[in-house]
Amino acid sequence: MPNSFSYRDRLLHCEGLSVAQMASQIGTPFYLYSSQSMQEQFRAYDRAFASIPHVICFSMKANSNLAVVRLFVNEGGGVDIVSGGELFRAVRAGADPRKIVFSGVGKTRAEIADALKSGILMFNVESLPELKTIDRVAQELGLKAPVALRINPDVDPHTHDYTATGKKESKFGIDLDQAMDGYRLARSLHHLEVVGVDVHIGSQITEVEPYEKALLKVKSFVDQLRREGFGIRYFDFGGGLGIPYKDEKPPSPQEFAERVLPILSAMDLTVIFEPGRFLVGNAGILVCKVLYVKDSNAKSHVIVDAAMNDLIRPSLYGAYQEIIPVSLPAEPDRRVTADVVGPVCESGDFLAKDREIPPIQVGDLLAVLGAGAYGFTMSSTYNSRPRVPEVLVRGEEFHLVRRRETFEDLVRGEEIPVFLKGD
Ligand code: LLP
Repeated sequence: MPNSFSYRDRLLHCEGLSVAQMASQIGTPFYLYSSQSMQEQFRAYDRAFASIPHVICFSMKANSNLAVVRLFVNEGGGVDIVSGGELFRAVRAGADPRKIVFSGVGKTRAEIADALKSGILMFNVESLPELKTIDRVAQELGLKAPVALRINPDVDPHTHDYTATGKKESKFGIDLDQAMDGYRLARSLHHLEVVGVDVHIGSQITEVEPYEKALLKVKSFVDQLRREGFGIRYFDFGGGLGIPYKDEKPPSPQEFAERVLPILSAMDLTVIFEPGRFLVGNAGILVCKVLYVKDSNAKSHVIVDAAMNDLIRPSLYGAYQEIIPVSLPAEPDRRVTADVVGPVCESGDFLAKDREIPPIQVGDLLAVLGAGAYGFTMSSTYNSRPRVPEVLVRGEEFHLVRRRETFEDLVRGEEIPVFLKGD
């Protein structure tokens, strides 16, 4: 359990506050974030790379709540965005556009135009056709677009297939053997300014080795670019540093830095990092309540009020998320095996399968750990379940940073056409 969550008098606390007490005020389910934990993670990453010029651009797809983005902006961070919506949120949260990098394989003309007008730091360009589109949009606006090409280094990050992005068959980035042509093309286009090189190999990476491999390939490519006279200023090293969900032992930022710093320093560039999960994953929990306990012949099911629409990682990736009681039971060593499931009408709706948990009673509160990253941001209203609130704690204070959605929110923007109204 991360430092900011602990049991006091057998009750789970987030920083100075009792989770059960917050639940009684807010209702369940809800996401709960510790600002202290987010700050500590950011500072640990920042400290690890203090010896080189760098910018930490929070990958806000992990958690795009305005308050969370603002927290990292206050720490001096920038933002890694992948859509017009994220640009809007980043600016609304107070991010400095000169610290925003824009990644993603399918940027639209409108998104490119918005980002150009905002004056972002650079576009991480994922294909040669995209280079031409950005050039054209910049020309129409009478601007010059700062670009980096995202290199696909063909490295296996040893992670879930859905989150591996740096293998040659993936849709991301430009193959190393086509990258030089890409840079030459970029140089020939008058409304582009080549400023950087980008690589991002995947997510939930628990070893340094894939990073090292990718870095060595990129470094020799940067050397080549320099020989060809490209004035590269930024190297974007992407995100992906893993966190412990169960018994993974990912490198700390310190350990990661020790191995990659010698190469990074030799590159003599401002390095951009795009961590998402590392900054917020273990700073958040999903609090839910037990609705029913159902013992059939084959299995025991604990049915809670949170479901796959609220937290899809277990269903989508088979991801393990630790589940603990908010109030420690009298006999903490007793265990039962159960599936923890939600009310959604799909067999794939589960938060845990065959999990050993303390005996559970109706009305008990449970906390799903590791829910601060790709939790709320991947949630939906499937089964017409309003999205749950998000709460941010600081010390003894908590703030509802997103209210619970209402049924009216569910139907906002929908209309029944006159031809169906029958009068
Ligand atoms: N930069 C780029 C270009 C990315 O695509 C991503 C994540 C990141 C940075 C941040 O990666 P992180 O530091 O958070 O690992 N939904 C999945 C993870 C998808 C990651 C997508 N890209 C999950 O819940 O495990």
